[in-house]
Amino acid sequence: MDLFEKLVENMGPLGMHAKEAHGYYTFPKLEGEISPRMTFRGRELLTWSLNNYLGLANHPEVRKADAVAAADYGMAYPMGARMMSGNSDYHEELERQLSDFEQKEDTILLNFGYQGVLSAIDALVDRRDIIVYDAESHACIIDGVRLHQGKRFVYAHNDIQNLEKQLVRATKMAEQTGGAILVITEGVFGMSGNQGNLKDIVALKSKYNFRLFVDDAHGFGTMGKTGIGTGEEQGVQDEIDIYFSTFAKSMAGIGAFISSEKRIVDYLRYNMRSQIFAKSLPMPMVIGALKRLELLRNDPSLKSNLWKIVDALQDGLKSAGFNIGTTMSPVTPVILNGTVAEATHLTQDLRENYNIFCSIVVYPVVPKGVIMLRLIPTAVHTLADVEETITAFTEIKEYLEAGKYAKEYLAI
Ligand SMILES: Cc1ncc(COP(=O)(O)O)c(C=O)c1O
Repeated sequence: MDLFEKLVENMGPLGMHAKEAHGYYTFPKLEGEISPRMTFRGRELLTWSLNNYLGLANHPEVRKADAVAAADYGMAYPMGARMMSGNSDYHEELERQLSDFEQKEDTILLNFGYQGVLSAIDALVDRRDIIVYDAESHACIIDGVRLHQGKRFVYAHNDIQNLEKQLVRATKMAEQTGGAILVITEGVFGMSGNQGNLKDIVALKSKYNFRLFVDDAHGFGTMGKTGIGTGEEQGVQDEIDIYFSTFAKSMAGIGAFISSEKRIVDYLRYNMRSQIFAKSLPMPMVIGALKRLELLRNDPSLKSNLWKIVDALQDGLKSAGFNIGTTMSPVTPVILNGTVAEATHLTQDLRENYNIFCSIVVYPVVPKGVIMLRLIPTAVHTLADVEETITAFTEIKEYLEAGKYAKEYLAI
C-alpha cells in the first residue's frame, strides 16, 4: 500500500470534516489588530476566542518593545541552541526575573510550551520511574507520557481518592523498579476552566513520596493575588516542584519556561533534548517577554480588569440560566445540548447574525450530544461586550431548544 494513499483515506478525527470546515470552523482568519473586535470574512465580530487574558498582545509598550528589539537584533540572533552558541544576557535575565516572580530558585526558558512539556517529562523520568497524571491533561502532557518507557497511571480528572489509589499502585511499583514517582496536573484546565486540585494533591505528599509537575499555562498571570498562578491561588506555590507556563497566553507571545530548584533546572539545561538540539528563542521574543513580565507584575489593573469581565460574564451567564460547568478560572465554557450539525448552524447564526466569534467544541472532544461554546474573557473586553453576548446567547439557546438548528446537514 502507498503511504500517501493510506493517509488521505482517513484524515483523522479532526481532519475528517476538513473539506466543509476549512476556513470557517477550522483555520478561520481573524484579521486586524488583536482585540475583542476583529474582522472575519469582511465582518467585524466580537471575539471571545483569544487567550490574550491580560490584553498585552496589543499594549502600546509591548508593541514598542517588540518593534525596537526586532530593529536592534533582527529575528535571528542569537544563533544556535543555548548550550552551543545561542545564549545571551537577556535570556538569563528573563530566567532570573521569572524565578523571582514564581518564587523558585531557577528557571529554564523553552522555545515552545508544547515541546517543552513533552521534553521535560522525557528528561525527568527514566524507565524505572512511574508517572501519575490527570485524565484531562493537555495533549503536551499526554504526548510526554507517551514517550515514557516506564509505567504510568492515569487518575480520574481531579479525583483525589482515585489519585490516591493510583499512588498506592505507583508506590508499590516504584519499590519493585527502584524508581521514583512524578505526578502531573494542570493548574487551570483549558477546556473546563477547572482548577487542578493542587491543595489536596500536595496534602498527599505527607503519605506518598512523589514530585509534582504543574502545567499552569492558563493560570500564569490570571490566578493568585499577584498573578503568580494557581499555586498562589491555592496557597501551595512552594509545594509545586516543577512549575511550567507558556508565554502564549497571558504573556501574548511565544516561548515558555519551567521554574524549579536550581539543581533540577541545571539538570534540565543539560538533559532536555528539545532545548539542547533546537535554536534558542530569538531576542525580540526575550526582550518582548521582559516587557510583558514587567507590566504583568507592576500593573495590577490588568488582572483586575480581566476579573471584572470574568465575573460579569460568568455571573451573567449563570443568571440567564446557562450551564457553565464547574469553572474556577477565566476559561468560560457554555454547555448546550445538540448534534454536531446543530452546532454548525448555531455557530453560523452567531457569526453571521449576531457578529460573535467564539470557539466551538463538539464530539469527539466533548461527549456526543454536547455543544460547548468556549469563551475567553480578557482585560480588554468591556461590560457592554458581556451584555451583548449574553443577550445573543439567550436568543440562540432559545432557537436551539425550539429546533431552529435541527438540520441533517452541516452549515457551510
Ligand atoms: C495547558 C497547556 N499546556 C501547554 C500548552 C502549549 O504551549 P505553547 O503554545 O507555548 O506550545 C498549551 C497551549 O498553548 C496549553 O493550553
